[in-house]
Amino acid sequence: MNAAAPRETMVIADPMRWDDLVTALRRQIAAETKLTREESLAPKTTIRVGGAARVYAEPASVADLQKLLCTAKAEGVRVFMLGRGSNLLVPDEGVDGLVIALAHEAWASFDVRPEGRVWAGAGLRLKNLCGLAAKAGLVGFEFLEGIPGSVGGALRMNAGAMGGWMFDVVEEVQLMTFGGDVKTLARAAMHVDYRHCAELHDAIALGALLRPASKADADSVKRQMDAYARKRHESQPREPSAGCVFKNPPGNSAGRLIDECGLKGERVGDAEVSTVHANFIVNRGAATGADVLELVRRIRARVKQIKGVDLEPEVLLYGKNWKDVL
Ligand code: EPU
Repeated sequence: MNAAAPRETMVIADPMRWDDLVTALRRQIAAETKLTREESLAPKTTIRVGGAARVYAEPASVADLQKLLCTAKAEGVRVFMLGRGSNLLVPDEGVDGLVIALAHEAWASFDVRPEGRVWAGAGLRLKNLCGLAAKAGLVGFEFLEGIPGSVGGALRMNAGAMGGWMFDVVEEVQLMTFGGDVKTLARAAMHVDYRHCAELHDAIALGALLRPASKADADSVKRQMDAYARKRHESQPREPSAGCVFKNPPGNSAGRLIDECGLKGERVGDAEVSTVHANFIVNRGAATGADVLELVRRIRARVKQIKGVDLEPEVLLYGKNWKDVL
């Protein structure tokens, strides 16, 4: 799972200026903060396609994240957040901006608080959150087990599976605005919907206080997680993918609609509509971003033609608006 939050600001096209930006940032931030030019993003996404980030950073502290954001703002550079890269399509030309991943271990905390509440850092993998919660006998996070994302990405997308979604278990979220201000928002003050959280469109989740449904013994929590994992293995593909490509239209299933249009196995290059679940595009080896985009266009056109339904992508497209490419 993953979080992307593009900002509409001026873009620096000149490579020299990207080098200058890195030089300026390097002077301000700690050595533990990774900062690179032309970092390849494909290996950082679950579908494994796309180009490089002009500038890429893994801040090691809140202070360094603030410096990265404030400098980007001052220089008019777009900022993109990267989570676990599971709900994301990176174009082949890469991203003209600063890509920030909370991949440093400093962001992966898991802290049991009074009354069984859990503080989870934005960089914590959902899989680890579930494993640690199971060990502590905390019930209510099991549905997140199979989502290949981080806590931050899951908050940004309000990720969901097995009838639950992330904000079901959230009590409050700590975030940083693109101006570098840190705020804590109670769940009740946030505007959350299916695969959507308004407050995290122009802010970065730093972590969240989560509330388990109840306590149970570790074995029974583990059994429920295993049952979900089995269900997922039977119904979803194993090949690299970006998860479900389209949102489910109200009262319907995008996967079923695409399947009923006979599109399973449809292929552009190495991008293929999964034969297991039609709402997944899988990378059969050497798919490019362009292959995936073309297949998305084809699926939408066919479903519109046969079913009269406009499918809306769920997957985020880095640096571009879907409406401009569809
Ligand atoms: N179906 C088909 N053909 C297909 C796929 C599905 O006929 O190729 C049918 C199934 O038989 C079922 C119905 O469509 O009757 C719904 O399918 P499924 O139970 O797989 O759920 P889904 O609505 O397709 C949603 C989420 C998934 C999540 C699963 C399991 C969306 C877009 N998808 O899928 O989330 O894992 O439920 O809870 O909301 C994601 O968001 O990336 C994602 C994978």
